Amino acid sequence: MPMTFKEREVQELEEVALREIQTGKSAEDLDRLRVKYLGRKGALTQILRSLSRLAPEDRRRVGNEANRAKESLESALNAALTALKEARRAAPPALDVTLPGRRFPLGRLHPLTRINQEVCDIFLHLGFETVEGPEVELDYYNFEALNIPADHPARDMQDTFYFNDKVLLRTHTSPMQIRVMEMRQPPVRIIAPGRVYRRDSDLTHTPMFHQVEGLLVDKGVTFADLKGVLTAFVHEMFGPEVGLRFRPSYFPFTEPSAEVDIACVICRGEGCRVCKITGWLEILGAGMVHPAVFEAVGYDPETYTGFAFGLGIERIAMLKYGIDDIRLFFDNDLRFLRQF
Ligand code: FA5
Repeated sequence: MPMTFKEREVQELEEVALREIQTGKSAEDLDRLRVKYLGRKGALTQILRSLSRLAPEDRRRVGNEANRAKESLESALNAALTALKEARRAAPPALDVTLPGRRFPLGRLHPLTRINQEVCDIFLHLGFETVEGPEVELDYYNFEALNIPADHPARDMQDTFYFNDKVLLRTHTSPMQIRVMEMRQPPVRIIAPGRVYRRDSDLTHTPMFHQVEGLLVDKGVTFADLKGVLTAFVHEMFGPEVGLRFRPSYFPFTEPSAEVDIACVICRGEGCRVCKITGWLEILGAGMVHPAVFEAVGYDPETYTGFAFGLGIERIAMLKYGIDDIRLFFDNDLRFLRQF
């Protein structure tokens, strides 16, 4: 049976629509075509709506043809949309170089690391070599060889974390004096930075803190050398105008012994909670190496003399940056750390 005029109209409409769908370049183009042909007032929809006005014998044929065309357009539109999506996934949109970049947060050195480096650099320039040793230490190196036998009252000065009778967390870096002297002959000129541990906690004490040990042994070394080196260090670290005092003290492994205080930079010597109203803050202990220590490592105390010192990095950092609570260094509060 020959095609009716209406059937041909449907076919022509379908052909035109398919061609337009093929040239659609975006989802918006395809949407517009969907509305144009299949929307409520779309061309094909109009034909379907007008079926009731056709003669009954034409109605079925044109209806079939229009429904087939509708399905064909729908599947062509869906296929075109899928193809567009896949093409976009394969080739992502070009990089927009005008967009502002995303900033990566920059890491920085912890203030204690910086101070530690600064301290080591100063001694490096004074001719000292850096050595490192274990934090888990033998009682022998931490106490015994440093002229602090078991039951010596000086053990009370440093409340200790023990693993067992013989093994402990070192309470100071002084065991490095023994380890170095056991391995080398004079002259010795070393510093030994590292972590140390004590049962201690308040505004100026933490259970873990950092020390730098210093040891210089040679013929004819005197207390004047000790004073000269430590004064040079303090002036380099805090400036030549800073208040500094050597105070007689006691350590079993040095004789004579001294502690070095710096004028409290928090209150400028007037007295505050950090310096416990004294105006001074202790930064290091020092002294001339005790002959008993030389004997423990096999050096002849008649031939050699030497000095040693142990300074606290946290104390120096507090003074340098004007920080009134040592615990801030270990809280990992980024608002605090970002200031450095
Ligand atoms: C000693 O540890 C001796 N080994 C120092 C020494 C070495 C003397 C060589 C003679 C020869 P002292 O316990 O005073 O001494 O500690 C030395 C420094 O470590 C102190 O001046 C202080 O700055 C710091 N320090 C001590 N305890 C703490 C703590 N709990 N938290 C933070 N810093 C501390």
